Amino acid sequence: MKALVWQGADELAVTQVPEPQLRNEQDAIIKVRKTVTCGSDLHLLGGYLPFMERGDVLGHEFLGEVVEVGPQVRRHRVGDRVVVCSFISCGRCWYCQQQQFSLCDNGNTNPAVIESPRGPMLGGCYGYSHALGGFAGSHAEYIRVPYADQGAFPVPDGVSDERALFASDAAPTGWMGADLGGVRPGDVVAVWGAGGVGQMAARAAVLLGAERVIVIDRFDDRLRMAETHLGVETLNYQSHDVGGELLERSGGRGPDVCIEAVGMESHSTGPQSWYDQIKQQLRLEPDAPVAARDAIHNCRKGGSVFLLGVYAGLVDRFPLGAVMNKGLTLRGAQQHGHRYIPMLLERMARDELVTEHLATHTMPLDQAPQGYSMFKNRIDGCVRAVFEPAG
Ligand SMILES: NC(=O)c1ccc[n+]([C@@H]2O[C@H](COP(=O)([O-])OP(=O)(O)OC[C@H]3O[C@@H](n4cnc5c(N)ncnc54)[C@H](O)[C@@H]3O)[C@@H](O)[C@H]2O)c1
Ligand SMILES: [Zn+2]
Ligand SMILES: [Zn+2]
Repeated sequence: MKALVWQGADELAVTQVPEPQLRNEQDAIIKVRKTVTCGSDLHLLGGYLPFMERGDVLGHEFLGEVVEVGPQVRRHRVGDRVVVCSFISCGRCWYCQQQQFSLCDNGNTNPAVIESPRGPMLGGCYGYSHALGGFAGSHAEYIRVPYADQGAFPVPDGVSDERALFASDAAPTGWMGADLGGVRPGDVVAVWGAGGVGQMAARAAVLLGAERVIVIDRFDDRLRMAETHLGVETLNYQSHDVGGELLERSGGRGPDVCIEAVGMESHSTGPQSWYDQIKQQLRLEPDAPVAARDAIHNCRKGGSVFLLGVYAGLVDRFPLGAVMNKGLTLRGAQQHGHRYIPMLLERMARDELVTEHLATHTMPLDQAPQGYSMFKNRIDGCVRAVFEPAG
């Protein structure tokens, strides 16, 4: 079958790979109808997560049709239209029982890759390197879904493929940031990053009752998109004084909840950016936590900061003093999608949550290398490139 494989930093190709087979009784095989790029893939392409091998199939967000099920799969039948959570979770271990699905003890079949330097590690994820289980990704005609009863969710009739596709990752990730960030009715919420994840976090904050939601980025087209489709305010950090504006828009205190949806390749200007870039290139500081620092600095005293952006390891100049002295709550997580996806699909069916505007570019899988280049370089306003293996 056809698949998009990684061939070394920034080198991608569509080639033939073996079709997936059922390996365990709880597996299903899904024929992929749509699969989409994610900001997390850019960390892999850039070589910031050094556990990819040449020939690995990329992609972790997808929707498709069940074509084969193992004997223990109870909730799905051949022919079902399903959207699959990007994280692989067993549904039975202690972490899954706490609804911390991305921390599943069984989802990652290769935990030792990073356990020794960092302690117990997170679960498994499709197409996301050998550190997260080495599972083949979804930018392919077919994909094996382990624990299919847990990870695959039927899409309600009336919700389009294009909308439901984002229930795989961006929508539950954003929802988790607002939910576990503790957004309450009446709050002022600031979101750094107007990519798919930041936009979904902002919409979640609105739906959870926030009074003002402010999305911060430097790309006006993304900010306009957030204003038009999500009902939020925006702030361009290149043309505005973010600190002053946030104080102004929050009664002089600062936002109650700050959600960071940018991650380890944060952009910034000024001397701080050179410091981070040089140290990142020399591999002395794997992550450039510019937006995380901004979120911490600008949050009100006693407020809450949630890190949705992916970080790999160590950072410098982290404002720990501000976290402590301002009495902040600081949290982060990979998405616990299983906890939110059914609720999000219902909201999609009621038109409360729209996502399809994120799919700015749709193309056959054969054009995926060009799609990644557009997504990475934000060419032609690309927010997400969607690939159709049958297209
Ligand atoms: N926690 C999870 O489970 C999870 C799931 C999916 C994605 N992610 C992570 O979330 C982050 C965002 O993902 P995405 O798909 O939206 O990425 P994206 O690349 O599409 O968007 C990131 C946005 O951040 C903006 N940005 C860069 N530097 C900034 C700064 N200093 N201040 C404000 N904005 C800035 C960029 O202009 C861009 O619009 C990534 O790090 C991704 O890996 C995490
Ligand atoms: Zn993703
Ligand atoms: Zn589990």
